[in-house]
Amino acid sequence: MADLSVKLGDLELKNPVMVAAGPWTRDPASIQRYVDAGAGAVITESITMDANQASRPYLYRNGEQIFNTKLHSTLYLEQWEELAAGMDMRDCKLICSIWGSTVTEVRYLSNYVQRLGADAVELSLYAPIGSRNQSMCTSAEHIADVIRETMDAVDIPVMVKLPYEVSFFPEVLQAIYDAGVKTVSSIDALRGISGVDIETATPNMPTYGGYSGTPIRPVALATTAMLRQYTPFYICGCGGIQNAENAIEQMMLGASAFQFASALFSRGERLIRDTVNDLQNWLDQHGYRSVEEIIGLALPRMTAFEAIPIRPIYAVAEKECDRKDCDLCRQGCIYQAIEYVKGKGYRILEDRCEGCGHCMSVCPENKIRLGGIPPVSYRKRN
Ligand SMILES: Cc1cc2nc3c(=O)[nH]c(=O)nc-3n(C[C@H](O)[C@H](O)[C@H](O)COP(=O)(O)O)c2cc1C
Ligand code: SF4
Ligand code: SF4
Repeated sequence: MADLSVKLGDLELKNPVMVAAGPWTRDPASIQRYVDAGAGAVITESITMDANQASRPYLYRNGEQIFNTKLHSTLYLEQWEELAAGMDMRDCKLICSIWGSTVTEVRYLSNYVQRLGADAVELSLYAPIGSRNQSMCTSAEHIADVIRETMDAVDIPVMVKLPYEVSFFPEVLQAIYDAGVKTVSSIDALRGISGVDIETATPNMPTYGGYSGTPIRPVALATTAMLRQYTPFYICGCGGIQNAENAIEQMMLGASAFQFASALFSRGERLIRDTVNDLQNWLDQHGYRSVEEIIGLALPRMTAFEAIPIRPIYAVAEKECDRKDCDLCRQGCIYQAIEYVKGKGYRILEDRCEGCGHCMSVCPENKIRLGGIPPVSYRKRN
């Protein structure tokens, strides 16, 4: 059987399946459910100096799009201490997420969670909700100060949760690395508004919220790939992951471990158990000896945009189609290169086709592919 254990900076996890910070880890009893389900590590909801009032409602779900206005833990520090005594983490790592508004607060909190039994601290720099601590996530100097203070206050590893907004700033990443951090979690929820009732000109939510769930997965995948390609950090991938397949994608682009968050609203702790099993089965079926073998496996197949060869290709109808009820290919062709001829079906006009790929992507029956001998007009242009 493939070995599921992974190294995440200075942490050794029995498997890469983690639970992200959020209300599903709001207290030790909730954390225990994920420990019992077999998670490699569980991250607490962000712990702050004071208990936070939860705005109600705090969830605005629209299909796969999830928006929330839930900011940090609703427990007082004393309550965390009292309840944590009953927790049995066994071989699962406890990572405490903390959020503070000053360097002193962050220092105090990190020391506090170490005493609580944390195996690592996850420093939350930012929340997409509210306007607190803008400088914490944008000023490289400030971030470096906060991290150095935190590292100084504890003996356990300090991870940083990177918001998407700063994941691409070289000076911020350098400051985090220079301050001694080995692992980053990425990404946090994006800032979003679910929509506006245009009859009453009223936003569907009272304030900006955190936008998460399946639709942000491509953003999270790109962030992981970019971090892996350009930085030496261990990466804990997060954002839109729904199942083992999505997790494998994250790992193939460079994540050493991954976190479930919004998906828990649909599948609860069962998701953890299923993912550990599915990951194990997939690795065994594909002949991998260790899950670490798949980390970054897809990256060499990525090409820099500038290095992509300019090839003259155009759409080819693989099979005849007469599905007037569909029409997706014709409607979406902005080059007017597809026409419908009564009695003959759809036809691709090669001299107009620019090979953009849209028709192939939308065809529900895989009737179109890209390729073929370049049409005359292409040959002329080249
Ligand atoms: C309701 C809710 C509350 C959250 N609370 C926290 C939090 O306290 N601390 C934190 O670092 N991230 C928090 N997050 C962000 C998640 O940990 C995660 O980074 C984000 O939701 C993206 O992952 P997803 O698309 O899989 O949900 C919260 C997310 C949601 C949906
Ligand atoms: S590849 Fe693009 S341009 Fe060519 S037929 Fe399809 S949608 Fe039109
Ligand atoms: S998208 Fe595919 S199935 Fe739909 S009309 Fe075009 S070729 Fe036919």
